Amino acid sequence: MARRRHKIAAMLVMAAAGLLLLPATSAQPMGMGNSTGWIEVVSWRPRALLLHGFLAHAECDHIVELATPRLEPSKVVSKDGSGRLDSVRTSKGAFLRKQLDEVMVAIEQRIERVTHLPFTHSEQLQVLKYDKGQKYSAHFDVHGDEQQAQLAARRGEQGGSRLATLLMYLSDVEEGGETSFPRGRWLDEAVQSQPPYSECAAKGVAVKPRKGDAILFFSLKLDGQSKDLYSLHAGCPVGRGVKYSATSWIHVEPYSNSGPLHPGTCRDNNANCAKWAAIGECERNVVFMKGNDTLRGNCRLACKVCKPCAADDQDCLAGNLTPAEKAAAGLSSVTS
Ligand SMILES: *[C@@H]1O[C@H](CO)[C@@H](O)[C@H](O)[C@H]1NC(C)=O
Ligand SMILES: *[C@@H]1O[C@H](CO)[C@@H](O)[C@H](O)[C@H]1NC(C)=O
Repeated sequence: MARRRHKIAAMLVMAAAGLLLLPATSAQPMGMGNSTGWIEVVSWRPRALLLHGFLAHAECDHIVELATPRLEPSKVVSKDGSGRLDSVRTSKGAFLRKQLDEVMVAIEQRIERVTHLPFTHSEQLQVLKYDKGQKYSAHFDVHGDEQQAQLAARRGEQGGSRLATLLMYLSDVEEGGETSFPRGRWLDEAVQSQPPYSECAAKGVAVKPRKGDAILFFSLKLDGQSKDLYSLHAGCPVGRGVKYSATSWIHVEPYSNSGPLHPGTCRDNNANCAKWAAIGECERNVVFMKGNDTLRGNCRLACKVCKPCAADDQDCLAGNLTPAEKAAAGLSSVTS
């Protein structure tokens, strides 16, 4: 009898030791980073879930540590597609390339598992730091109109529209810093609303930043194309404390992590290019279709002003560049 008790005790010790040996990032019950994690449906308008304890606190600290030396003032995408500084967005940010280390790989796998969206569709993670008073005014995560979408295509952005956003909170914020959906509707306001909120978060639905929590929301309607107007959201000004967040934008199609396409990539920006070329638009509408020395045409492949190249064939790609593009090659970068 005594021997059996010993055996069980030994097994318990071994089991406990085994648990202690597990890295902090291993899968926890519910598939979350924190064993107390749970999922709350915040709203159907927009479709939004609050993932309590998505990250373990140690994982939050790790992401902040990786991002800190890389932080730079955040930009917004301007009408011509380039990044610029703007008072709409006053935080500092850093992009972390995918698969940076083991901890990040575990987090990336968790993102894929919990969102049910393939990680190949994600942009690299963007970490943001908001000091007191810093914010991101109300905006959508998808392009506002056809013109902007065309610009994105011309810049070589891939993956189509952003379908969903996973926003992870990496620090506790003493006051303010909520993620506000001013047009949102609570699933059950009496139970879910946790006043007080800052003035910015008083309308609609708002989530308070809590270290380790993450919010997942969808920017597109179920057709996968049209913008869900309920997904308008803001990062409210931080009242007290420092807010760190990490964002993963997930697209409807695979998104290459290598940034924009090589400018020498021979492609059409519009599905109608072949049809237009066949009815003589390359000659009738030269600048739009083929481009000139300053503007890149929209139908360069269909108008045969460039030749298709393998993605790694640098000589072939370089052969497709105009002199002006040659000078600028490799200098452009995607900002968000
Ligand atoms: C899990 O979440 C709770 C509540 O926020 C927190 O107190 C605890 O430190 C977290 N545990 C880990 C391992 O991050
Ligand atoms: C290219 O076309 C645009 C629009 O027509 C024009 O403004 C620009 O000057 C042209 N560039 C050259 C080098 O001809």
